Amino acid sequence: MPEITDDTPVHLAEVDVDLDVQEILLASSQHDITKLRRLLRTQSSLPDAANVKDTESGFSPLHAAIAACEPDTETKETQNGTNGAVPSDSNPKELDTETLQSAVETVKFLLQEGAIWNDLDVNNETPGCLARRIGALELYDLMVDAGVRAELLLNRLDAYEELSDSDSEEEDKEGETATATATETDPETAPELVDASAEIAAAPSATPANPEVSNPQYLESHLNIQNDRILDADQNGVMMAWESDIMRKSAKALLPTPGLRVLNIGHGMGIVDGFFQEQQPAAHHIIEAHDDVVAEMKRRGWDSKPGVVIHQGRWQDVLPGLVAEGVMFDAIYHDTFAESYGDFREFFSEQVIGLLEQEGRWGFFNGMGADRQISYDVYQKVAEMDLFEAGFDVQWEEIAVPKLEGEWEGVRRAYWVVDDYRLPLCKFMD
Ligand SMILES: C[S@@+](CC[C@H](N)C(=O)[O-])C[C@H]1O[C@@H](n2cnc3c(N)ncnc32)[C@H](O)[C@@H]1O
Repeated sequence: MPEITDDTPVHLAEVDVDLDVQEILLASSQHDITKLRRLLRTQSSLPDAANVKDTESGFSPLHAAIAACEPDTETKETQNGTNGAVPSDSNPKELDTETLQSAVETVKFLLQEGAIWNDLDVNNETPGCLARRIGALELYDLMVDAGVRAELLLNRLDAYEELSDSDSEEEDKEGETATATATETDPETAPELVDASAEIAAAPSATPANPEVSNPQYLESHLNIQNDRILDADQNGVMMAWESDIMRKSAKALLPTPGLRVLNIGHGMGIVDGFFQEQQPAAHHIIEAHDDVVAEMKRRGWDSKPGVVIHQGRWQDVLPGLVAEGVMFDAIYHDTFAESYGDFREFFSEQVIGLLEQEGRWGFFNGMGADRQISYDVYQKVAEMDLFEAGFDVQWEEIAVPKLEGEWEGVRRAYWVVDDYRLPLCKFMD
């Protein structure tokens, strides 16, 4: 039986690896940093020891360290991170202060060792989701901060790659020695950054709740425009009527008095534009890129409303023309679809300054990361930092969102699950 002889060493190696994994998870759940340090630095069989996973629960060392703070319940299995069950008793129980404190130290240590902040367990929970569910808010905050650091780094890497791509393209244009492959980012030029990105990219991103469709693909697709929603060709929700209260409050915050000039980017169902009209603006420009939406706007007579100017096209193509003409606004609203956070950052870092009056206000639909509370919290901070860097102050108003259970029928995925909407109001810094 040659097969058995051949299999035996492999089998033993697997057992060894599994034991190593369990040892790390156990040390994490016991908050034994001395042992963890030794295990993480000496386990040559595990190249990414800070990110091992329990096969049953999907727990990483971070999950294990945080789950150990959960007060015992009947459904909780105890040992080393094999707990994936949600407690049957949903009343939060008091957490033990000492355990919490040792968990804080362990989580900080694991993060320093390269633990990924948003790995998912079998319950679809990140370590931060778990911390929030059991009421360990100090641990939750640590995980949010870790998410902010990782996402800021990822965004910088994206920008770096774009820059690197465009540099290479420039070289191509100049007829220098560049070859076709040289237009790709050259890992040799930034080995540390590329390594870091590979590590972070292994985890699910907290990136704004974008559908898996690119902006150009979306703009090519045929839309299903209904009374209470717009869906794209893949049933992704582009705009839904439940957002009306958010749109009303955004419009009122941006245009508090009649007679102001407003620019809206992304018409959708025309909800926010309807509220802008109620404020009798002196000028009302609308940029809309999708042909189907523009056709619907015209059908509804938007092109003949006094003061309304429709710009058909992507904001990326339309705005430079407006800046060149010197057109200025008292208020700007941004709510597009299937664009990345990088696109949004480009909008506020490079375009708003040329279009908004010094005392003007601008805002955006804040749906970034809204399919998971921790992602929403992470992206609020990421945006706040980038806005600050671009020269803006932002104030957030919390608005309760109605329960949306029935709303998602026929929609590919719920892009909103968090309880409260944080409405942003941005101004130039004093
Ligand atoms: C979420 S909807 C806007 C909803 C709108 N706030 C309302 O109250 O109904 C997004 C809109 O942005 C448009 N859009 C997507 N990408 C765009 C781009 N790059 N430039 C301009 N408009 C864009 C979409 O076609 C869509 O109509």
